[in-house]
Amino acid sequence: MNNPLIELRNVSFTAQGNRIVEGVSLKFAEGTATALAGPSGGGKSTVLKLAAGILVPDRGEVRYRGQNIAAFTWGQNLDFRKETAVVFQDSALWANQTLYQTLELPLSIHYPLMSGKEREQRIREVVSEVGYRRDLMVRPALLSIGEQKLIGFARAMLCRPAVLFLDEWTESLDDEAGGRLVSLARRFKSEGNTLIFISHDFDLVSNLSDCVIMINGGKVSANVSREELIRNTKVAGIIEEGMNE
Ligand SMILES: Nc1ncnc2c1ncn2[C@@H]1O[C@H](COP(=O)(O)OP(=O)(O)OP(=O)(O)O)[C@@H](O)[C@H]1O
Ligand SMILES: [Mg+2]
Repeated sequence: MNNPLIELRNVSFTAQGNRIVEGVSLKFAEGTATALAGPSGGGKSTVLKLAAGILVPDRGEVRYRGQNIAAFTWGQNLDFRKETAVVFQDSALWANQTLYQTLELPLSIHYPLMSGKEREQRIREVVSEVGYRRDLMVRPALLSIGEQKLIGFARAMLCRPAVLFLDEWTESLDDEAGGRLVSLARRFKSEGNTLIFISHDFDLVSNLSDCVIMINGGKVSANVSREELIRNTKVAGIIEEGMNE
């Protein structure tokens, strides 16, 4: 991979004295889908947040389009935030804001010239795409975990990102709602965008990803292409087992 869109170079991350991610080097190519898989507590969410610039590594660097994101100017950081979006494992909606306010914020930051009416139109559009049909003028505590996931996904799609980071985005959803969010992710990728996702669902991982990266004990334990996963049943077995350890 010559010019990766995102690259982690020897990245480590420590929290409360514990080394959670150690010496991880990874490349994500533009227009591809990469799955991060592995056992619970292995460090997947932490690696995803490091790649998305949500967490700052204490060693190594994360590069976006060849530039260290820690050295971004204010303007570059704003562009990076507009081009990338994250669906967090716990949805991470604003507890003390209505859903509407939560959804309006990214639009008012990234499209400051948009009128209130245009913002409302875009919000209604993404909310309908994810299949959320209830009131937007409520706080997230009134929503089920699955409904929070829908709003988290809608928020990520609002500003039409080029890179989506999805952390177990179909968890807690029924088949219909989960299927819809998988289709939206698939469509996003088919439009030439870049997807980096975490899932414990082996079928989803093998269907949607071009490449699977196993994270275990805060390190990369395997990096397997989709072709290899399909062709080599032994490798597929090891990956499937490793996802459920
Ligand atoms: N801020 C933090 N402070 C202390 N420990 C943390 C912190 N963040 C993560 N950890 C620990 O680091 C390890 C990896 O966490 P992480 O959330 O990245 O795992 P994961 O692979 O996403 O797991 P899961 O599949 O359960 O979501 C866990 O043991 C977790 O408790
Ligand atoms: Mg996680």
